[in-house]
Amino acid sequence: MHRRLIAPGALAAASLLLAIPASAADYRPGAPGIGDPYYPYYGNGGYDVSHYDLRLKYQPKTDELEGTATVLATTTQDLSRFDLDFLLDVSEVRVNGAKAAYTTSGQHELQITPATPLPKGTPLTVVVRYSGVPSTKSAYGFNTWHRTPDGAVAADEPEAAWWWFPSNDHPLDKATYDVSVAVPDGTQAISNGTLQSTSSKLGWTRYNWRSDKPQATYLATLAIGKFDITTGKTSDGVPVVNAYSKDLGANDGAARASVERTGEIVDWLTGYFGPYPFSSVGGYVPNTTTGYALETQTRVYYSPKQFASGSNTSVVVHELAHQWYGDDVSLKGWKDIWINEGFARYAQWLWSEHEGEGTTQQLADYVYASHPADDAFWTVKPGDPGSDNQFDIAIYDRGALAVQALRNAVGDDAFFAILKGWPKDHAYGNASVADFQSYAEKVSGKPLAALFDTWLFQPSKPTAPSARTASIARTSAATAQPKSWKKIEAANDVHTG
Ligand code: ARG
Ligand code: ZN
Repeated sequence: MHRRLIAPGALAAASLLLAIPASAADYRPGAPGIGDPYYPYYGNGGYDVSHYDLRLKYQPKTDELEGTATVLATTTQDLSRFDLDFLLDVSEVRVNGAKAAYTTSGQHELQITPATPLPKGTPLTVVVRYSGVPSTKSAYGFNTWHRTPDGAVAADEPEAAWWWFPSNDHPLDKATYDVSVAVPDGTQAISNGTLQSTSSKLGWTRYNWRSDKPQATYLATLAIGKFDITTGKTSDGVPVVNAYSKDLGANDGAARASVERTGEIVDWLTGYFGPYPFSSVGGYVPNTTTGYALETQTRVYYSPKQFASGSNTSVVVHELAHQWYGDDVSLKGWKDIWINEGFARYAQWLWSEHEGEGTTQQLADYVYASHPADDAFWTVKPGDPGSDNQFDIAIYDRGALAVQALRNAVGDDAFFAILKGWPKDHAYGNASVADFQSYAEKVSGKPLAALFDTWLFQPSKPTAPSARTASIARTSAATAQPKSWKKIEAANDVHTG
């Protein structure tokens, strides 16, 4: 008797079970982070984005940004709820046409509950309508949106997207982009890729940009301001589009003298890294006061500060090298940052040699000799530096030293084959330091575990035997500061940036 009684609550639960698919119990919220131990809440779980379509409007006077983001994705689990990373104010969310409930959670999570749960493998069209003043929003106490006298810039690493579009904010989830931005007539909007068209209406000009190859969220950039735009082509016919703020003052000449060499430098890098991976290239120099540059895909962000002491092609080489090492092949987790910065720095060393301002070996010797064994520099492990040290100078200099050590261990033929083969082997994908080691072992036919451990994973200065293996620090003459040194270091104002 007893067992036949059904409580009202159980009846309600039973009818709910009938209303949704049989495996309802399997529908779970997507994780609030993609699973990167350095940044547990960056990116999200449960879906994979293929495309961002951003239709925006920005008013420089008030820093008001409004827009609609249409995010195309596919669910990767039976999903009851999912997050996007975002900080602006949301007014509506739709999932596959139906209004969805949403709320904010944590530091930068927009938590979305679709009207019906989503089985694994479902194509999603998520439309988010929003507005806000990006300069007033922060997470973890910081804000990377930079207002300028005539506009604003979104360009930072690892966080930049939260202030201008909702995303799955981690390099593991790469996607293509359409970025359409309306700004007051006389002002320009610059983003990644190719300018498809512009249109003008009632005092507003709309710029439509398309980035048609997979792109990490932190490599999506937006610059609004009054720019002088120049165009050209690389030897392979890739269009070059550069932009200079009309307000660069004393830095204008040096900025142009450096960035206008983009096409030539891409040609030169192609000799080491293989064909340029994207359909457009260039850079922009807004009137910001920040100290770093960033490898924003196809359209590098430069700070005017890099040109404050005169022209600096070294920073251009660094950021363009990232188009292969960082952008085409992106890291799997933020701990893999050495593949980005070690190789971009090494490209500067190759450029120094090309310019007759110090060979890569002289630069390696100088780095080795100028940091005594008790220098904290050697406590940073480029292969797993921790999030606090992600952009420490050691990632760059010790990182490039590790590249030279690899070169000396495998020999030039294998080394240059690795350098060129890597972007081809992992084109438009993601890879880790462990993947790089396997690849270098495969190409060179040499076991490299000990070498990688010494140069990337030990919190100490490699001692004489391994230093000798690498032919580093052999002579006292080698400790003279190479002529290129100051320009190489100026490329990355990692401390103040
Ligand atoms: N990847 C950039 C560069 O080397 C570094 C950006 C560091 N970010 C910062 N906020 N300082 O060129
Ligand atoms: Zn870099």
